[in-house]
Amino acid sequence: MKQLTVPYFRPQLGEEEIAEVSAALRSGWLTSGPRSHRFEEEFAAAVGAAHAVAVNSCTAALHLAVEALGLKAGQGVLVPTMTFAATAEIVRYLGAIPILVDCDPLTANLDLRDAARKIEQLRSGELPGTISRDTRIVGIIPVHVGGSMMNIAELQHFAGQHGLWMVEDAAHAFPAAWRPGPGSPWQRCGEATAAVSCFSFYANKTITTGEGGMAVTSDTRLAERMRSMSLHGLSHDAWGRYSGNGSWDYGIIAPGYKYNLTDIAAAIGIHQLARAAHMRHLREVIALTYQEGLANVQELERPVVAKDRILAWHLYPIRLRPECLSIDRNAFMGELKQAGVGCSVHWRPLHLHPYYQETYGWRPEDFPVATALWQRLISLPLFPTMTPDEVQYVMHTIKGICARYMRPI
Ligand SMILES: Cc1ncc(COP(=O)(O)O)c(C=O)c1O
Repeated sequence: MKQLTVPYFRPQLGEEEIAEVSAALRSGWLTSGPRSHRFEEEFAAAVGAAHAVAVNSCTAALHLAVEALGLKAGQGVLVPTMTFAATAEIVRYLGAIPILVDCDPLTANLDLRDAARKIEQLRSGELPGTISRDTRIVGIIPVHVGGSMMNIAELQHFAGQHGLWMVEDAAHAFPAAWRPGPGSPWQRCGEATAAVSCFSFYANKTITTGEGGMAVTSDTRLAERMRSMSLHGLSHDAWGRYSGNGSWDYGIIAPGYKYNLTDIAAAIGIHQLARAAHMRHLREVIALTYQEGLANVQELERPVVAKDRILAWHLYPIRLRPECLSIDRNAFMGELKQAGVGCSVHWRPLHLHPYYQETYGWRPEDFPVATALWQRLISLPLFPTMTPDEVQYVMHTIKGICARYMRPI
């Protein structure tokens, strides 16, 4: 097969985005204004939420969410260890403590049984690491890894049982949905699935604004707090003050942050949003091609497609079976790179990073599932403009590496 170069990701940007960005530039209004407000309204409608606050990253959205929920220094929040830096660092921003939770071996999502165990261990003084048993756990931040949603009913039941608020890290989960069973209606991620759901529009996410994010909620008070805190804690934004009959004046209600989304970024987002369902469909076709084409490759396991889910298909993570291969994951990735195939790993779990190890004394064995799993993970290229030849080339390359390094068992 002819050698190709397949990047890990290539955004799908059309003439509509380019024209809208040009129109924003020509309008003379660059910061948050009519386009970011339109983007908020259309995004809220797309996920079925009452309110949406557009910000410059998902990290900002998560920070605003936990601040609005009143997270205080010294309180604890359940956070999956299998996630990106953002999910835990925003807890640290407020001086609170991320209590890491192991993951489910099949979905890599947070394991609620381990979450219950961690709460019990904290109470009995047996939690591994150095976190004080007096720490009060007030919230939970599940992540829908790759856009495959957790069971929301189970999450809400767990949160209710333990008196926790829930903020969803939905960075990967637009558009995604779940239902409890075939007879039930679909519930979209963001459709009252948590107190606040936070989405990412980073360059390689399912829709992009270059950098950007959105916090959605059905709670008016939380929405108002997040909106104000996204802009220095001001009572009115610039568009409200300088357009129409607005007054220049404002009040500072709290020392806020500078997280608002520009109209230039929103101009991209509006048109990405309009194509979101189509781009999801294109990713799904590619993912299902991988599922079928890699079905007989003994040296790896394919992602589990959970029942009663509409997956966003942000990631396509394969798991190597080390017992079947004479090379490890990093060497396997080196082979892919050499063949021109871009790939990634989601993720080195948080408990294996120096900051969290040094701050809380966690050890690899405290999170056995994530510790074993991450060493087997490789995320393959998955983006809407991938051509059939590119998909075939990725699979051909993987099969070739497996054949070269197979270890019969
Ligand atoms: C699970 C998860 N949460 C949060 C983020 C942060 O998103 P952003 O870059 O928009 O702040 C990411 C980014 O990759 C992510 O993967």
